[in-house]
Amino acid sequence: MNKSTILIVDDEATNVEILVEILNNKYELKVAYDGLIAINIAKKILPDLILLDIQMPKMDGFEVAHILKNNDETKDIPIIFITAKTQKEVIIKALDSGAVDYITKPFFKEELKLRIANHIKTAVLQKELNNRNKIQEQLLIQQSKLASMGEMIASIAHQWRQPLTSLGGILMNIEECHEDGELTGEYLEDRIDAAEQNILYMSKTIDDFRNFFIPSKYKKPFDITKSIINAISIVDAAFINNEIRIILSIDDEKVLDYNDNKYKDHFLVDGYVNEFSQVIINILQNAKDAILEIKASSENRNILIDIYSQEEDIKIIIKDNAGGIPHSIINKIFEPYFTTKEEGKGTGIGLYMSKTIIETNMQGKISVSNHENGSIFEINMKRCFS
Ligand SMILES: Nc1ncnc2c1ncn2[C@@H]1O[C@H](COP(=O)(O)OP(=O)(O)OP(=O)(O)O)[C@@H](O)[C@H]1O
Ligand SMILES: [Mg+2]
Repeated sequence: MNKSTILIVDDEATNVEILVEILNNKYELKVAYDGLIAINIAKKILPDLILLDIQMPKMDGFEVAHILKNNDETKDIPIIFITAKTQKEVIIKALDSGAVDYITKPFFKEELKLRIANHIKTAVLQKELNNRNKIQEQLLIQQSKLASMGEMIASIAHQWRQPLTSLGGILMNIEECHEDGELTGEYLEDRIDAAEQNILYMSKTIDDFRNFFIPSKYKKPFDITKSIINAISIVDAAFINNEIRIILSIDDEKVLDYNDNKYKDHFLVDGYVNEFSQVIINILQNAKDAILEIKASSENRNILIDIYSQEEDIKIIIKDNAGGIPHSIINKIFEPYFTTKEEGKGTGIGLYMSKTIIETNMQGKISVSNHENGSIFEINMKRCFS
């Protein structure tokens, strides 16, 4: 095993000689005859222990200790003061300055050796403990990275469930139409277009997710209406199959034609267009699940989306008639992994992600409330006029 290193700091050569004589066999020794040199050597070689004289010209031992204890690299090196003074104040000041011990001159050789050995042993153990804590910390960081990776995979699965259901729905539309002998070329083209949209969306989500957990992702102004229409077109097959109507109004005017360019760039906000679509899809999908859960009657199978401006804000209201959210859980639905759905049907991260996207990433606000027979999700975004 390597010898431990001790730095001896004393301005008197005879004192140094005595210490060298006692410690030479067992330790690697370095000597400094004044405080400044001592500090330089300590920083350079990081000794295992420092024997420090108090009374020295230019810089005394207290000052040296103070500087070493305030330096990140040298702060853990144990310091033992060696002093001729035995006044209570000096001893207290010595220990108060961060030294682990003090020895008064004249000292017994054996006592000196034992004290040094004990302090070096303690310092080594402390260092090992610190290293172990550092490793533990790194492990924790690693684990939390893995956890967010798990979260990301769950999110992709979550984002894909809807387009996959839609694709299934589209195939069913075609099959039923064919069975009824009503399959026209026009209808087939429409359904193929819808299927392509879903496939495009799925490959896009993969790209988006790659950047999703990096907060510095590029923001740019986008049109809320277009993003919502895009979200609806991605999920509409599953809604059509369950006879659920999505009714969109802009400034109290019903939108009948989603391709109507009249609304182009009507409501600009700054942020992440795809993530915003995901939020809308999450909310729509939740409404659909709730409608199916209560087996809502035909006249209650409506989801209303209202978009309007209010001063500097744009508000998006999404309202369903699916019975609302019980009081006992309404405060929990934005928490990660909170779900009332059976296993495999919900992961409970849809609204948590929605809140993160709207509030953390886009500085908006999302909230929920109940009306007489359903729930209302409200999103507020700052309008951008660029
Ligand atoms: N429109 C709604 N009507 C009734 N309950 C709702 C509605 N929206 C959300 N909830 C409740 O909030 C819970 C949390 O929703 P969230 O979207 O976060 O997770 P999830 O839908 O259960 O699972 P995931 O979206 O991850 O697949 C739901 O399980 C449901 O109990
Ligand atoms: Mg959900």
